[in-house]
Amino acid sequence: METRIITTKEIALAAAEIACGGLVAFPTETVYGLGADASDPVAIDKIYAAKGRPKDNPFIVHCASISDAEKAAYITEDARKLFELFSPGPLTVVLKKKPLVCAAATAGLDTVGIRIPASPAARLLIKKSGKLIAAPSANISGRVSPTSAQEVFEALDGKIAYILDGGECSVGIESVIISLAGDSPVILRPGKITRNELQQALEKDVLMKTSAGDSAPVAPGMKYTHYSPKIPTVGFTDIDKATAAAANEKDSVIIAPESLLNWEIGNFLSLGFTIDSAMRRLYSSLLLAEKEFSKIYLFVFPDGDDTDGLNNRIRKAIHSDLE
Ligand code: TXA
Ligand code: MG
Repeated sequence: METRIITTKEIALAAAEIACGGLVAFPTETVYGLGADASDPVAIDKIYAAKGRPKDNPFIVHCASISDAEKAAYITEDARKLFELFSPGPLTVVLKKKPLVCAAATAGLDTVGIRIPASPAARLLIKKSGKLIAAPSANISGRVSPTSAQEVFEALDGKIAYILDGGECSVGIESVIISLAGDSPVILRPGKITRNELQQALEKDVLMKTSAGDSAPVAPGMKYTHYSPKIPTVGFTDIDKATAAAANEKDSVIIAPESLLNWEIGNFLSLGFTIDSAMRRLYSSLLLAEKEFSKIYLFVFPDGDDTDGLNNRIRKAIHSDLE
């Protein structure tokens, strides 16, 4: 199959592809998604096949509005509060599912993750296709998520007909996932919207349960390796130690905030000056490093409410820590 990158001028092609049971990669503000009609189990199977994704790992259902979301899930009062405050935006809320979403899309769970993406192209695609769109990130399972149409092309060339180009993703890491399906709110995956922000919005405690334990992990995906570069990736906090280690290896690269970099020694990729820029640049830096180098030294940020999401992805990317 020929894979074409198209712009929103040709969005009708992408919408028709979704409506007739095909797959389309599309932009969101977090990462690119690989979408299909959430009500069509045959279409959903194509996503699992294209990504090589384990079948027990459910997809998030993308909606254009809160009234769309009501077709897919039972919206609680707390969920409405969060959607009104943070959507469209990088928020996924897990809720009791309605029958419109097929069982394959949620891997048989009676809950569904609902997200209203900020990207106008994503919401236009949902509206024009007349479908709710189930979509994981548009990477091969276990690999780094794409934040540009070109990165999607490199991952999925030949497997899908269209990649809708919406430019580079402005957030850069996947949405925060909060479950409101249990007795109390739980974060299953941290993101740009922080635990404090969610607690303030809900005026109640929000637990953080981001790694899968032995007993019934609530986010099935958390038990799989994610975001992993193909080359050895070493985490560090001390830039002097990383610079010294990298100095002996001409094929290694240091990925760190701009303020830590000394451009005269070694190879560097900058994460910019802020936590937001680091989120935005992390995945594209990892994908670029994989192509051009043979080892990565990746900065681990100080822990904090605003770095939970970023550090979660960084820790999943690194294979070992610099002693
Ligand atoms: O920002 C994002 O959320 C991106 C864009 C494309 O929207 N999507 C994304 O999807 O990151 P994916 O499939 O790569 O990650 C979804 C995660 C998985 O870990 C999955 O296990 C979890 O969400 N998940 C989905 N439905 C769930 C449910 N009903 N209950 C618990 N976890 C769920
Ligand atoms: Mg993913």
